[in-house]
Amino acid sequence: MEGATSGRITPLHCTNPTVSTLTLALSKGRIFDETLPLLAAAGIVPLEDPETSRKLILATSMPDVAVVIVRASDVPTYVQYGAADLGVAGKDVLLEHGGTGLYQPLDLEIARCRMAVATKRGFDWAGTVQRGARIRVATKYVATAREHFAAKGMHVDLIKLYGSMELAPLCGLADAIVDLVSTGNTLKANDLVVVEDIMPISSRLIVSPAALKLKRDRVQPLLEALGRAVVAQRGRKS
Ligand code: ATP
Ligand code: PRP
Repeated sequence: MEGATSGRITPLHCTNPTVSTLTLALSKGRIFDETLPLLAAAGIVPLEDPETSRKLILATSMPDVAVVIVRASDVPTYVQYGAADLGVAGKDVLLEHGGTGLYQPLDLEIARCRMAVATKRGFDWAGTVQRGARIRVATKYVATAREHFAAKGMHVDLIKLYGSMELAPLCGLADAIVDLVSTGNTLKANDLVVVEDIMPISSRLIVSPAALKLKRDRVQPLLEALGRAVVAQRGRKS
């Protein structure tokens, strides 16, 4: 919790400086798109589309609620420091961040995929592991990969990448990658296969402890409304 208290900056007063605005940090793309119906069920509709607007602070149908648009991996940082009251972040991102200074009260069950180890088709992963050969693994998810291989007692050399992990085994940068897999189309298109499953991934609502304490009367009803929306969404998907 240290970040939430020691490094807290004054929360944003986005639309009306006289009203304390509740800010929700979202990333553009699938998290924004999949959070939208849940927010709508809670009565919150952003008034602009981040795909067409260059604005980074979006007013919503609720005058004292604003959405701020940040990189997916920056969402926990904004919430940790109280620069946003709430946010939506993938479990993959939260594991890399570490979760310091954040409450994670709700699995929104959106942006679902899996974290997995993949290699080129035909690569003898099991044999390489059994021989105890030195393995190079490229990933954006260094903390998760480190923990996964350490739990298996495997020593691997991790290479940090920021995207297009699938390219690494094809160019000889690494023997394997740790990446997210959903349909499997990206792996298939690059002649890669999953050799180990690590964990299921979905996105969580995260809340700053300061907001939970100081804006509880506004945060709590929103949490409850989103919780109901998740249950309804589950019913529609099953
Ligand atoms: P950054 O911009 O910080 O690099 P990113 O490009 O990974 O982040 P997105 O691609 O929008 O951001 O992914 C946001 C979240 O959606 C991820 O953190 C993950 O939890 C989830 N996700 C990523 N890829 C998929 C996928 N193919 N299917 C479903 N969910 C996914
Ligand atoms: C993610 C992930 C994989 C792909 C997997 O990338 O890094 O490359 O999705 O999805 P699939 O199994 O359905 O093919 P994303 O689409 O987010 O691209 P980006 O990381 O370049 O933003």
